[in-house]
Amino acid sequence: MEAIILLGGPGAGKGTLAEGLKKQTPYMHVSTGNILRDAVKSGSKLGQTVEPFLKNGQLVADELILEIIKERMGQEPAGAKFMFDGFPRTIHQAEGLQTLLPDVNGSVSHVLNLAATPQDLIPRLCGRRTCKTCGAIFHMVNMPPKEEGICDLDGGELFQRADDNEETVMSRLEVYELQTAPLIDFYEKLGLIRTINAGGSADYVLDQALAALRG
Ligand code: AP5
Repeated sequence: MEAIILLGGPGAGKGTLAEGLKKQTPYMHVSTGNILRDAVKSGSKLGQTVEPFLKNGQLVADELILEIIKERMGQEPAGAKFMFDGFPRTIHQAEGLQTLLPDVNGSVSHVLNLAATPQDLIPRLCGRRTCKTCGAIFHMVNMPPKEEGICDLDGGELFQRADDNEETVMSRLEVYELQTAPLIDFYEKLGLIRTINAGGSADYVLDQALAALRG
C-alpha cells in the first residue's frame, strides 16, 4: 500500500485538490471529514458520537479515527494507493498511520502541504457550497455553479456545511494551528513535505501538486 497526504488548514482546498488529483492519478480519495459527515447523516452510533465535535470544530478522538482508517484500508487490495484528506490531524494519528503502513508493505510517499493564510481561508469557508448528492464542491464567488443552488454535475441541491459558520470556522482555525500544524515539522523531518502555494487558483494548485508528485 502507498499513501499520499493532503495537509492544510480548514478551507485550504484539500477536497478540491483531491477531486482534481482523482482524475489524473491512481490515488483513492479518503476524507475523514466526509466519512464522519456521512455517519452523522445516517444517524448511526458513530454519527451520534462525533456530531458534537464536528459542530464545534473540535477533533474527534484519535483512536476512533485510527479505527476508521484501518477499517477503510482493510477494504482495499494490498496494492491500493490512498490519498488521505484531513488525516492525519495530530502527531498521534501520524504515528498510528506509520504502524498501519509498515515499511515492507507500504509507506507515505508525499505530504502535500497546502499553505494558505487565514485571510485566504475564512472567505473560502463562508462561501463554500456542497452538492447533497455527489459531494462536489463549489464556491459562491470563486467557483460558482452555472445555476444558483444547483450542482453542475448532477443537478443536486447545494447546501452550506453546518461547520462553515463564523464561530466554528474560528475554532477550526485555532484547532488546526495547535494540533495539526505541528505535522509539518513531523513530516519535514522525514523528508516528505512538498509545500504548495494554496492561495492561487484551483488549477494552479493542481499543477503544483502534480509536479510535486512527479518529483
Ligand atoms: P474536514 O472535512 O476534514 O474539514 P477541514 O479540514 O476543516 O477542511 P475543509 O473540508 O473545510 O476544507 P478543504 O481544505 O477540503 O477545502 P475545500 O476544497 O472544500 O473535517 C471536518 C471536521 O471533522 C473537523 O472539524 C473534525 O471535527 C472532524 N475530523 C475530520 N477528520 C478528522 C481527524 N483526522 N481527526 C479528528 N477529527 C477529524 O475548499 C473550500 C472552499 O474554497 C470551497 O468553496 C472551494 O470551492 C474553494 N476553493 C478551494 N480551492 C480554491 C482555490 N485554489 N482558490 C479559490 N477557492 C478555492
